[in-house]
Amino acid sequence: MNAKATASSGETSRVQAPRPIALVTGASAGIGREFAMFLAENGHDLVLVARREDRLVELKKTVGERFGARAMVIAEDLSHAAAPRRIADTVRASGLEIDVLVNNAGYAVKGNFLEADWATHADFIAVMTTSWIHLTHLFVPAMVRRGHGRVLNVSSLASLAPEPAGSLYAPAKCMMTSASRALRLDLLGTGVHVTALCPGFTYTEFHDVLGVREEMKKLPKYMWQEARPVVEAGWRGVERNDPVVVPGAFNKFAAFWCRVLPYALTSRMIPKAVSERATSAPLSTSKKVDPSR
Ligand SMILES: NC(=O)c1ccc[n+]([C@@H]2O[C@H](COP(=O)([O-])OP(=O)(O)OC[C@H]3O[C@@H](n4cnc5c(N)ncnc54)[C@H](OP(=O)(O)O)[C@@H]3O)[C@@H](O)[C@H]2O)c1
Repeated sequence: MNAKATASSGETSRVQAPRPIALVTGASAGIGREFAMFLAENGHDLVLVARREDRLVELKKTVGERFGARAMVIAEDLSHAAAPRRIADTVRASGLEIDVLVNNAGYAVKGNFLEADWATHADFIAVMTTSWIHLTHLFVPAMVRRGHGRVLNVSSLASLAPEPAGSLYAPAKCMMTSASRALRLDLLGTGVHVTALCPGFTYTEFHDVLGVREEMKKLPKYMWQEARPVVEAGWRGVERNDPVVVPGAFNKFAAFWCRVLPYALTSRMIPKAVSERATSAPLSTSKKVDPSR
């Protein structure tokens, strides 16, 4: 896809600049799908990664028809330790060079920490921490050699706010935001930009997958954003090499107060709906937890 294409018009022919290539994880739905559409519309070819291959194939067709973008589909489960290496090998074997890496794939585990078995937590930690760091480690060196690249990590407002009880989601996103800041500093002056995008509540399949859609409907509309403005804010931020982007007025407001007010205060301001509805009730003492799980 990076090879130069020749376009003929009458007797003259001209060489078109190659389209930059963006690799988007979690492109089969939500924010990742929107990133793929946005980047294709803005002149990129794509490498689309997620587990649901049928959705990626449909997206490949859509971006081809609408924007003339070419796309490669890689169906991978990012909880598998070997997935990032397989993705990089597939990309390299096709002679492609990645200009934009959007580490977006993610989800949350419902319930109290002790209610989920270890395999569930291990998969979660792999997807939400190891996989994107490994992908970054695999693709950024070539960006540095070429003197240009963009890494956009889709983190969360949860990484900037006091964490609600119940899961490893906010801690994992804290790591993503913090590691993005650190990597950005490492790469200053190389031409490679790194930004953590920290959306708040966004209309995607995230809360359906988590199984809390009905509860989430009770949150006021001003707390929600569509995926498109989230994506646009993220792209503007990584072009400027902003360390962190918080999209949307409500989210900016929340992030500001979380930064300036003491933790003891902000931890009480987290809406009950977020900390209780998105998780289950605190583990009751009568509940038996099997430590071997
Ligand atoms: N929606 C929100 O309110 C919100 C707020 C803040 C941050 N975020 C973050 O935004 C990112 C995108 O989420 P979303 O809201 O767009 O949710 P979504 O609509 O559920 O999309 C999640 C994407 O991640 C992919 N994914 C999940 N597990 C995967 C795995 N094991 N291997 C490969 N791909 C996997 C899914 O693809 P497959 O199922 O096909 O694999 C899907 O494409 C996540 O990192 C999320 O934490 C979301």
